[in-house]
Amino acid sequence: MMINARKLFRDISDLPTIPAIVSKVITLLDSQESTPDDIADLILSDQVLAARVIRVVNSPLYRSSSEINSVKRALLYLGFKSVREMILTSYFIEGLNQKEQPFDMKTFWMHSFSVGAISRRIGNMVGYVDIEKAYLVGIIHDIGKVFLGHYCREQYGQMLAGISNTSYTTYEAEYEYFGTTHSEVGLCLAQRWNFPSPYCDVIFHHHTPEMATEDPLLTSIVTLADFFCLSHVAAGTLAQASIPGQSEECAWNTLKQLSNKPIASGLESFLSDLSDAYEDLSREIDQIFNIMIT
Ligand SMILES: [Fe+2]
Ligand SMILES: [Fe+2]
Repeated sequence: MMINARKLFRDISDLPTIPAIVSKVITLLDSQESTPDDIADLILSDQVLAARVIRVVNSPLYRSSSEINSVKRALLYLGFKSVREMILTSYFIEGLNQKEQPFDMKTFWMHSFSVGAISRRIGNMVGYVDIEKAYLVGIIHDIGKVFLGHYCREQYGQMLAGISNTSYTTYEAEYEYFGTTHSEVGLCLAQRWNFPSPYCDVIFHHHTPEMATEDPLLTSIVTLADFFCLSHVAAGTLAQASIPGQSEECAWNTLKQLSNKPIASGLESFLSDLSDAYEDLSREIDQIFNIMIT
């Protein structure tokens, strides 16, 4: 099946890009040995990137009390992980947002940010080591949909119309229509953009968490966050109410096994704990959405 995804990819000349500097900054931010000076120098070598860091650090989302006008201060104020998250998210949005789609992009972003925020919350609940990473991969988990939607627009639109009001998921329908899925094409895109391998693995396996090899706990977090959002959060045309299937059960078992904190005994009560937290989260999601998208 991966062959079909690669074939689709090969035939496209105007693939969305993110600047090479972004991958460099992400790698440097992930490295233990980097200092704020190293990273500030690299960010400053790209004026667009530097301006973006300053703009976002001064946005209401990060609530700094006084204006921050140097990249190094922004790094110290936000921390490396938040800067990594912010840079990748904003370029990701920019790279994909102008692509015409057969579905509503606002709905897509709302789903993406919701899965990001819920992934971070689940990451907290299970004591995951890097909750900012959980947030980031949550946001980018469905990038393959934007690719398929744009480059196979007519067929993808027909597919969505064909499955609306049915119990079919887009994932199942994609196999039938394209012989591949948004997970597989998402992997191709993530590799093309030089995303770190755990990110690629989550994108590839968020519907098949039992196959995850890099970071099974992270993949399970995103699988459950995705399920929660599709079943509990109204998300317009991309929403499909469902009951937990095999992949959610498998993600739940992994979560229980690998959690660093005690968690609810059953998936149902775990999801209902999440629902209780959702009201607070939805305010945060709206805020991020407004800064990033509008
Ligand atoms: Fe997905
Ligand atoms: Fe999703």
